[in-house]
Amino acid sequence: NNYEYLIVERQAAVGLIRLNRPKMLNALSFGVFREIATAIDELEADDAIGCIVLTGNEKAFAAGADIKEMQPKTFIDMFNADFHTIGGNRVTTCRKPTIAAVSGYALGGGCELAMMCDFIIASDTAKFGQPEITLGTIPGIGGTQRLTRAIGKAKAMDLCLTGRMMDAAEAERAGLVSRVVPADKLMEETMAAAEKIAAMSRPAAAMAKDAVNRAFETTLSEGMSVERDLFHATFALEDRAEGMAAFIEKRPATIRNR
Ligand code: HXC
Repeated sequence: NNYEYLIVERQAAVGLIRLNRPKMLNALSFGVFREIATAIDELEADDAIGCIVLTGNEKAFAAGADIKEMQPKTFIDMFNADFHTIGGNRVTTCRKPTIAAVSGYALGGGCELAMMCDFIIASDTAKFGQPEITLGTIPGIGGTQRLTRAIGKAKAMDLCLTGRMMDAAEAERAGLVSRVVPADKLMEETMAAAEKIAAMSRPAAAMAKDAVNRAFETTLSEGMSVERDLFHATFALEDRAEGMAAFIEKRPATIRNR
């Protein structure tokens, strides 16, 4: 596929999607969201790929939805186009594990896009925020919902109502990001994590991802029930039998993704 706003690469078993609108701090236009959905389709269908990394550049992961594109739009324009439907939701429906590697600004739709990934690794320069309120609007693809579940009501309210930015250290304390690494190590560390994940049993990784994501959606008893069923289901995997046999025999496991 040819992309106007993205660079999509494959590095061994990892699919790398780079937002590539550097002059606009990777502002997320409708076209960008459409291309992200296409890139996820492409990488998800590729059997060689076991994990997907979404990133921007050093200065910005993404500084939000494209304000210049949005400014003239009316209710019915936004209602009909719907960011959530055209692209946002496609990241969350991806069955392969996804990691957001965030350096610089992850604001508005950028913060929301990062939160759609399974987890976020941040560089020490990362800044997260939901500044929509300063534009007279509110977050539209998860900034009041995923953020609140991720970091709790107090901080989510603070960010959504003041529009202030949170630095990487605060984001890590709050539980928004899984790790903070020096800026010049961000891609190295993220790609290493992605390669590690891609080398795991793919169906086991998909089930683990599903189960954790379910915790975000549902009650504890429902989630426990889903986890139990998926855990039992892993006993139908050849990879599970082989993984445990390899441990006992003190040898590396041969993963077959089945
Ligand atoms: C369009 C943007 C943009 C955006 C930056 N640019 N963010 N264009 N949409 N979201 C453009 C600027 O206009 C400028 O273009 C160029 O990128 C560089 O930005 P500067 O502002 O000059 O950079 P700097 O001074 O370093 O400031 C960085 C910044 C600031 C603090 C991140 O750009 C900023 O506040 N951006 C907007 C952040 C924001 O409000 N995001 C939320 C959007 S609403 P020119 O042509 O002047 O050089 C949203 C709703 C989501 O995301 C709803 C669902 C998707």
